[in-house]
Amino acid sequence: MRSFRVETPQRVYEAIVERGVARRTAEYLPANAGKIFVVTTADVWKHQGGTLTEGLAGRPHQLLELPGGEDRKRLAPIEAAAEEMVRRGADRSSIVVAFGGGIVNDMAGFLAAIFMRGIPVVQIPTTLLAQVDAAVGGKTGVNLVSGKNLIGAFHQPLAVLIDPAVLDTLPEREYRAGLYEVIKCGIIRDSGLFDFLREERSAVLAREPGAVDRIIADSVRIKAEVVTADEREGDLRRILNFGHTFGHALEAETAYTRFLHGEAVAFGMRAAIYLAQKTGHLSAEDAVDMLAAINDYGPIPSLAGISVENLLGRLLHDKKTVQGKVHFILPVRIGEVAIASGISERAISEAIRAALG
Ligand code: GLY
Repeated sequence: MRSFRVETPQRVYEAIVERGVARRTAEYLPANAGKIFVVTTADVWKHQGGTLTEGLAGRPHQLLELPGGEDRKRLAPIEAAAEEMVRRGADRSSIVVAFGGGIVNDMAGFLAAIFMRGIPVVQIPTTLLAQVDAAVGGKTGVNLVSGKNLIGAFHQPLAVLIDPAVLDTLPEREYRAGLYEVIKCGIIRDSGLFDFLREERSAVLAREPGAVDRIIADSVRIKAEVVTADEREGDLRRILNFGHTFGHALEAETAYTRFLHGEAVAFGMRAAIYLAQKTGHLSAEDAVDMLAAINDYGPIPSLAGISVENLLGRLLHDKKTVQGKVHFILPVRIGEVAIASGISERAISEAIRAALG
């Protein structure tokens, strides 16, 4: 078992990486918790419900199903779920178990954050992307039409139970989408992880347990370190947004229906790499290596028909824009990034154009 401590002013908790841990969920639920609400989707429950049912070891629980899909990560289903909880007798002693991918982790976490002004949540991510990113660190929320995750709250979980075995049934596209977040971790903070991804591509793509467990543990360690240093994204946590500024623009521009989040991040990392090279932050050699790593785990779906001008317009309205300035996380070498602002619109447009290919 690997366990990574996340220490924030709000809560100190463990992110546990262990095959089979989801089958021991009951051990991580407070003995005196009231009603247990498992928040999931019909699809996740169909494929993995048995795992969690075993994990709850007979503890009574109720299912709440959310709609799947980034385009339905909206406030209305949260309100409906909260009403349903009240109808089923939820109170301040109730607990949410978030069981699903990143969208479920974000939405169920947000439901827990605002239900009766906050009840505990245990996060059990069932996709690679959620295991290495979304479920750890307490970011919860939903999308507005105008942008991704524009309403939300920091709500740290009681624990994060990361069971690599649940990835065995994950569709190939979802798995690859998660791998882009792992590449992100390597580029921003861990050249050893980056090298492993390059050298062990076949083992990673074949989901060999040793390779999968290693890349998850490395990514979760990085996430735990960064969130512990900066829970509220005032400083260091911003590095986790490498590829996200461009990626969020792409997701919003395509109404959250054409790309999985990880695929949008892959596009965003490409754009940031081109931008870093254009602005003199990154050597051509490292840029080639980074782009090759992203391509190795691709391809991402076609980017045909995406407008450079529209993406640029959306970037200027990203929530990471501070006082009108867009901040970019730019790689400076494998394992290190810098935060840059004041970059000309022309350089940004050129980077977008290059990344669109
Ligand atoms: N997904 C970026 C973060 O958790 O800060």
